[in-house]
Amino acid sequence: MKIFLDTADLSEIRRASDAGLIDGVTTNPSLVAKVAEGDVTVMYREICEAVDGPVSLEVVAVDRETMVAEGRKLAAIHENAVVKVPLTEDGLKACRDLGNEGHRVNVTLCFSVSQALLAAKAGATFVSPFIGRIDDISGEGMQLIHQIRQVYDNYGYTTEILAASIRHPMHVVESMLIGADCCTLPPKVLWQLSRHPLTDKGLDAFLSDWNAAGTAI
Ligand code: G3P
Repeated sequence: MKIFLDTADLSEIRRASDAGLIDGVTTNPSLVAKVAEGDVTVMYREICEAVDGPVSLEVVAVDRETMVAEGRKLAAIHENAVVKVPLTEDGLKACRDLGNEGHRVNVTLCFSVSQALLAAKAGATFVSPFIGRIDDISGEGMQLIHQIRQVYDNYGYTTEILAASIRHPMHVVESMLIGADCCTLPPKVLWQLSRHPLTDKGLDAFLSDWNAAGTAI
């Protein structure tokens, strides 16, 4: 499963990328607004250069024509750029238009299997179901990942399922078990994946035994 980092924070992206742990990056307007203002082209280029894989950059228009115009600009920033559009009627049309021009598109804000079907029909490279936000309103976010996996497999759709709105390590584990193609993680969750109390305990015991014996490498 591919791991993407869900942030626009360049230092976090470089930290994870330098460790060789991420396959790409996803951003959204809220994440970008936390770290930037004004023209973000230079920052987007730096993000694309910091990672060897797809970087989702989102349009902010809501009508098809302006989405396509913004999408062309975003795609021109760097070969790693993937245009992100919302799962609306105009977004689906823009997805088809941009795909016809050879651009990769991530259709975001997906909350139902019927929406995911249309993203695949529109030729999306990625569809982003938002697990955490469904859980937030007492729904079953993972159930949506299950259903989309089943529908895409039943009919051979090649759109990649990019599990998004990940809030904790078990969202990642369950997404892997279901067979999501990618997960996008906030930096905090990425590093949480590495931790286990028995690892810390075991390391403390190894080092204390080693030091007590006075051995050296
Ligand atoms: O990038 C889209 C998604 O991952 C946002 O997550 O935590 O704002 O629901 P969240």
